[in-house]
Amino acid sequence: MSLSSSISLFLLLCLHSTSQAYAQSTSTSSISISVPTAAPNGAFQVSPSLVSLSIEGDRWAEWAGSDSPNTFFINVLSNLKTYTGTPPMLRVGGDSEDNTNFDPSATSDEDVYPPASPTNIFPEASSVVVGPSYYASSQYMPSGTQMIWGVNFGTDNTTAATLEAESILGAFQSSAVKNANVSLHLLEIGNEPDRYVLTKRRPSSYDFKAYVAEWSAFVAQVSSAAGFSGANSPGLMGLSLGHITTAGFTTQNGLSGGLLQTSAGKLITTMSQHHYQGSTTSGIARIGDLMDKKLIRGNLTAFSDDITATRKAGLKYDLGETNTYSGHGILNISNSAASAIWLVDYSLQAATLGVERLFFHNGIGYAYNLIQPVALNKSLSGIPLQTPLAAHVQPAYYGALVVAEFLGNSSSRTITELSTSSDTLAGYALYTPSGLSSVVLINSAPFLSSTSGSRPITSVNLGLAGMTMNVKRLAIGRTDDTSGLSWGGQSFETVAGTPGGTLSTLNVSADQSINVSASEVVLLKFA
Ligand SMILES: *[C@@H]1O[C@H](CO)[C@@H](O)[C@H](O)[C@H]1NC(C)=O
Ligand SMILES: *[C@@H]1O[C@H](CO)[C@@H](O)[C@H](O)[C@H]1NC(C)=O
Ligand SMILES: *[C@@H]1O[C@H](CO)[C@@H](O)[C@H](O)[C@H]1NC(C)=O
Ligand SMILES: *[C@@H]1O[C@H](CO)[C@@H](O)[C@H](O)[C@H]1NC(C)=O
Ligand SMILES: *[C@@H]1O[C@H](CO)[C@@H](O)[C@H](O)[C@H]1NC(C)=O
Ligand SMILES: *[C@@H]1O[C@H](CO)[C@@H](O)[C@H](O)[C@H]1NC(C)=O
Ligand SMILES: *[C@@H]1O[C@H](CO)[C@@H](O)[C@H](O)[C@H]1NC(C)=O
Ligand SMILES: *[C@@H]1O[C@H](CO)[C@@H](O)[C@H](O)[C@H]1NC(C)=O
Repeated sequence: MSLSSSISLFLLLCLHSTSQAYAQSTSTSSISISVPTAAPNGAFQVSPSLVSLSIEGDRWAEWAGSDSPNTFFINVLSNLKTYTGTPPMLRVGGDSEDNTNFDPSATSDEDVYPPASPTNIFPEASSVVVGPSYYASSQYMPSGTQMIWGVNFGTDNTTAATLEAESILGAFQSSAVKNANVSLHLLEIGNEPDRYVLTKRRPSSYDFKAYVAEWSAFVAQVSSAAGFSGANSPGLMGLSLGHITTAGFTTQNGLSGGLLQTSAGKLITTMSQHHYQGSTTSGIARIGDLMDKKLIRGNLTAFSDDITATRKAGLKYDLGETNTYSGHGILNISNSAASAIWLVDYSLQAATLGVERLFFHNGIGYAYNLIQPVALNKSLSGIPLQTPLAAHVQPAYYGALVVAEFLGNSSSRTITELSTSSDTLAGYALYTPSGLSSVVLINSAPFLSSTSGSRPITSVNLGLAGMTMNVKRLAIGRTDDTSGLSWGGQSFETVAGTPGGTLSTLNVSADQSINVSASEVVLLKFA
């Protein structure tokens, strides 16, 4: 036996005897976190729609509703608006964006799908043909909704792109959409152009320089034909990069490589980077790694320089398409309670780095969805269902609820991360013009259905004297649960998507320690 394996055996024995000796008691660690009572210098402003949604365009008509609104989807968007006063922003696009053509006589949308397979259970359409009513369905969104619409650049057809852009602008100038107070925030022309060589849309020589030349000429032509070059035009979401940094496709080159000096580039107000924390094809994925505090920070700080440079150039920086694992998510991880914990830490961490918004990508039947907006005829793993699975929210949606309530509906807000000595406990504080407004505590230690023994607790002392706080908990059974969560005692897994059950929170003195269990999130609101 080698020295190292005898040491591991020794450690194993110690752990074993410890767990036997204390089998009945809960493992509790205590930490103190200092919470500044006023916003620290340099704390970033946060948008109330920090957590926004990206919807794969092929099935938009089902999300929104074509002849009448999809009330389930509207209700779950409205729940978020109740907390922040602003509905999530919606980006409609993704791969479908570059597969879309326009036909004025088309019904809402006419799609061609490749056959489903075990590795692609809910495939994306290979061809989407839309007519005017496709864009007009925007009228069903909650009042105050701002939208970003994708336009096809991938097939390099200016006629098709112009028809799409005209139809989008027409829809948003119609009285139906105007009366609904739904507005067009930006157009996005092309999705992940850095991947066009791989998707066989462009020759292997296609590099960033070629992209700038082609895109700016294309957009100049489309914008003058469709009439969005004037002062009243929507801005553009720029770059929308996937994750290929070769051939010069980087945000830094987007800022300094001549793009912004072109007439089309001058319409760009927001730089968009797509990011998934992992991929369905990158080997073994573990639930604990998804929520891991250090790994989340590693994923996001990789963009720090880009965010700083973008803000310095006077533009906004969005994660314009994001989620847990690219390729529609990993079953039993992306749709587990782990994704709710991940979403809270990931979104708020991004906010502290200066990200304006994160657009969590959703399609119909994808494992990583926050929302399944219509009934599914087969399970997420592809098993045909006798009784369709009704529209419902998935665990990640609860993460969005937590963030929305944390952000609240003040006229302005800044965020700071609280420094802690723990690898599994993260905290953030939010400040409004009247001072400290809320704190969220995230315990990202897994507590899986395979874990035996009692649930570890971290007891957190914030050292705030003379204040009262309202305590609200995101209750999770086990980290790998795929349903049955509750937010302040209320379930959102209801037929209509509206909260069910009685709201349950507790008011306590702020000098009291707060227990946060493994895989639990606690929101503290200060009076
Ligand atoms: C309409 O939406 C905008 C956001 O686009 C919002 O600022 C405004 O308050 C809304 N108006 C009404 C009457 O709700
Ligand atoms: C470009 O789009 C137009 C309008 O949909 C269509 O009529 C035309 O066939 C397309 N051109 C090509 C080369 O696909
Ligand atoms: C991002 O997180 C995943 C685990 O969820 C990890 O495998 C990967 O290494 C992280 N990436 C970075 C750049 O830290
Ligand atoms: C997901 O979890 C369910 C329920 O535990 C199980 O039956 C199924 O085999 C799991 N699927 C995968 C792909 O892990
Ligand atoms: C389920 O089947 C019905 C009837 O065939 C169909 O209209 C609906 O689009 C299907 N739903 C999904 C999510 O595929
Ligand atoms: C903000 O939310 C609180 C409840 O959290 C509500 O009482 C208040 O009316 C809201 N204010 C606005 C301007 O929406
Ligand atoms: C907590 O206090 C607030 C006022 O500070 C009050 O509106 C609320 O009802 C209280 N909640 C509970 C659960 O006692
Ligand atoms: C925190 O958890 C510990 C261990 O289970 C328990 O003894 C203590 O009463 C809890 N404190 C509160 C305020 O619930």
